[in-house]
Amino acid sequence: MANKECWGTRVGLILAMAGNAVGLGNFLRFPAQAVQNGGGAFIIPYLTCFLLMGLPLLFVEWGIGRHGGKFGHHSTPFMFDAMGKKTFWKYIGVLGIFTNLGIAAYYCYLESWTLSWAWHSVVGDFMGKSQADVSAFFNSYIGLEMSEPVIFWLICLVLNTWILSRGLKGGVELAAKIGMPLLLIFGVVLAVRGITLGAGSNGAVYDGLLGLNFLWEPKFDSILDPVVWRNAAGQIFFTLSLGMGSIHCYASYLKAKDDIALNAMSAGWMNEFVEVVLGSAVIIPIAIGYLGIDKVVELTKGGSGFGIGFMTLPYLFAQWGPFFSAASGFMWFTLLFFAGITSSLAMGTPCMGFMEDNFGWGRRKAAWTFGLAILLLGIPIVLSQEAFNEFDYWVGTLALVVFAIAEIIMFAWAFGMEKGWAEITEGADIKVPAVFKYVIKYVTPVFLLVVFIGSIPEIWSNLTKPITSYVLIARLMLLAVFAGVALLVYFAKAKEKREEKI
Ligand code: ALA
Repeated sequence: MANKECWGTRVGLILAMAGNAVGLGNFLRFPAQAVQNGGGAFIIPYLTCFLLMGLPLLFVEWGIGRHGGKFGHHSTPFMFDAMGKKTFWKYIGVLGIFTNLGIAAYYCYLESWTLSWAWHSVVGDFMGKSQADVSAFFNSYIGLEMSEPVIFWLICLVLNTWILSRGLKGGVELAAKIGMPLLLIFGVVLAVRGITLGAGSNGAVYDGLLGLNFLWEPKFDSILDPVVWRNAAGQIFFTLSLGMGSIHCYASYLKAKDDIALNAMSAGWMNEFVEVVLGSAVIIPIAIGYLGIDKVVELTKGGSGFGIGFMTLPYLFAQWGPFFSAASGFMWFTLLFFAGITSSLAMGTPCMGFMEDNFGWGRRKAAWTFGLAILLLGIPIVLSQEAFNEFDYWVGTLALVVFAIAEIIMFAWAFGMEKGWAEITEGADIKVPAVFKYVIKYVTPVFLLVVFIGSIPEIWSNLTKPITSYVLIARLMLLAVFAGVALLVYFAKAKEKREEKI
């Protein structure tokens, strides 16, 4: 049965694409990374990476996706097969399903925390608690000292799967049309509160503006620090959902002559607005307003933002009295939930598209199978922080860069830059600056290779660290997922050949 789904409206598509990008990374990871990398020192490398790597890769991924859609492909193995011509490209395209499964496995678990924290905020559980109490709650939660984490995780998995089973228009697009505006409204309200926080009000020690100044005062010395560059590049990948195969999948549901240039720009810039304007105006001003820069630097160690987002913010909100504490906690964690779910839905669609296109599955069967896969892969992650770290590093960090290097070489060199440029500009509602043609062909691949080479010491230290049982289980699972998807691609190709002969 051919997969004939398509987007209902252009606004719906852009909101879904922006929802794919806007995620926990915007509100938790970005502020933490910015603080860890010296505040204003981070912004110049970050914006440079956006222009030289983020935007070009957005054009490439939208281009590959819409091109694949013309041939009825909605996942990267067969999109790459159609473009790259050589047999091996479809196996590289396996990464575009592998990364989605691997990231969704831990992302849905994180997403479920936001549901739980929204609930506890509304019922006032954080009122009257000390910061140590809120941290202790977090630690006992992730340490599974109660059944609640599992319950919220299962609710979250079922919700994702159910929305996916409703299809593109009635599920993913509708969720984005509801979730993204609410997220923006909640984000603006909290950002205004952060920026207007005055020293002395509700126990704050400094003005909210101290935090904003810390972030926005450029420090040019960072340009020479390779670690800041590597972290900025990693953030651009994660926040734009690049190198994952989900943008390709969403773009494959466009019509052959639909614009991709303006759409890619709109979704990309919307993500940047949410990240650098809203994402930096909530956590940083509020936390620095109460705790000062040094303490916030200490709390954001590791660069994930969980410590501050889940352990510190509920305590700070509680200083605003019962009503504002409940309202702010609800808005903050619901905002995170909408940010999260619009991203995890995007991780499900390539996996579903693959089974629908190549094995004739219906979308309900594909959605529930995806949900089951995420449940199974998520078990070691829920049980162990070590397994979580393995998934986050090998899939959520490294595989994205490897996939991006492969796709840009395939697009600009194997498919050819002339044809690639024609694909990007076909039906375009804006004139794409011609400089991007050269950036995509030369600058971005070199940039990506430098990022990859720069991460070799980290890869080595991860490979040579002591292997505990959870590390081993996580690695074996990841290998099994990659091998399993590659095998399915092999069978799908064999099936296609048999059908061509008939
Ligand atoms: N792009 C998503 C995020 O930022 C994955 O969280």
